[in-house]
Amino acid sequence: MAALSITDESIPDLYGRTVIVTGGSSGIGLGAVKIFLEHNARVFNLDIQPPPADLDSAANLTFIQTDISSWPSLAGAFSIITRVHRASVDIAVGNAGVEEDGAYLQQCLRPAPTSEDEWAALMTERLSYRTVAVNLEGTLNFVMLAARVMKGQRDGGSIVLTGSATAYLPEQSIPVYCATKAAITNLVRSLRATLPQHNIAISGVAPSATESATLPPRLAAPLRAAQLPVSTGRHVGLAIAYSATARQSQRVEDYGKDDAAADAEGRWNGRVIHTLGDTFTEVEETLVRTRPQWWGERNTELARAQQRATDLRDTLLGP
Ligand SMILES: NC(=O)c1ccc[n+]([C@@H]2O[C@H](COP(=O)([O-])OP(=O)(O)OC[C@H]3O[C@@H](n4cnc5c(N)ncnc54)[C@H](O)[C@@H]3O)[C@@H](O)[C@H]2O)c1
Repeated sequence: MAALSITDESIPDLYGRTVIVTGGSSGIGLGAVKIFLEHNARVFNLDIQPPPADLDSAANLTFIQTDISSWPSLAGAFSIITRVHRASVDIAVGNAGVEEDGAYLQQCLRPAPTSEDEWAALMTERLSYRTVAVNLEGTLNFVMLAARVMKGQRDGGSIVLTGSATAYLPEQSIPVYCATKAAITNLVRSLRATLPQHNIAISGVAPSATESATLPPRLAAPLRAAQLPVSTGRHVGLAIAYSATARQSQRVEDYGKDDAAADAEGRWNGRVIHTLGDTFTEVEETLVRTRPQWWGERNTELARAQQRATDLRDTLLGP
């Protein structure tokens, strides 16, 4: 585990750089927006609700009302940023996310229908997974649009996603949420091998309990009562800003035919910073290093060999 020390001084001056943050009107996203503004970036906040009034006078902040789970809404926001504002997208923070209401777990534990009529009634029920639509589908689409814009830029860009500590240590009462956040973490792991070939970095933050509108009172209250750590939105925002701007001296993991000896210094990529209370810990490097221990030496060796044999990234290097 690599403990990190991140302060305001760790974030460079971002004058002339453009940042998009989804869900920047509250909690963690708001913390990140304020840090980017303090470091002179131009910031676009894509949220369903407007930011608090104290940001009304922030000249470098533009709010675009956006629902990331709606493709036209999200694509429309990128169109406004790049076409109307003629802005680049240097940093893209996919942060917007929603909790779940507990209905899925309740449904799992309900007795199944027994009669034909009851099954027929069940078949007509409309199931909808808002948590999946926002946290997973919305974030997938956000990453895709950001990458498309960044690929056309001389300096590429950096994408940072807000995952969750629940991707590593799931919480039993919110299984759908945990599933979406595990998916986001694996999205970072999968894309970290490909996007850098196009001058795009991708990384994540995995917050533990953080003060925000969505930390449900049923989870916040026992934490506070037990005097357990709860982070501020600004603290996690710092991890986001750091992930978007820091550099690394080596890849977190080689993929396929990567030349292990050719680890070059480059953008912070493929890493996830866990935030807990007032601490920061990068967790992916340790997971990669210890894979032979928890997955087995032979399994790791053979899966790596399979990856080398099927490394098709060169064929993806289109225009
Ligand atoms: N607070 C925590 O303890 C915690 C822990 C781990 C991960 N997270 C993650 O952090 C991220 C930020 O959440 P937060 O805790 O700051 O909550 P928050 O509710 O304070 O902020 C979330 C913001 O996202 C916006 N949003 C929601 N749905 C949206 C949509 N469809 N399109 C655009 N914007 C939308 C909301 O309006 C809000 O401004 C989420 O992805 C959440 O899952 C939070």
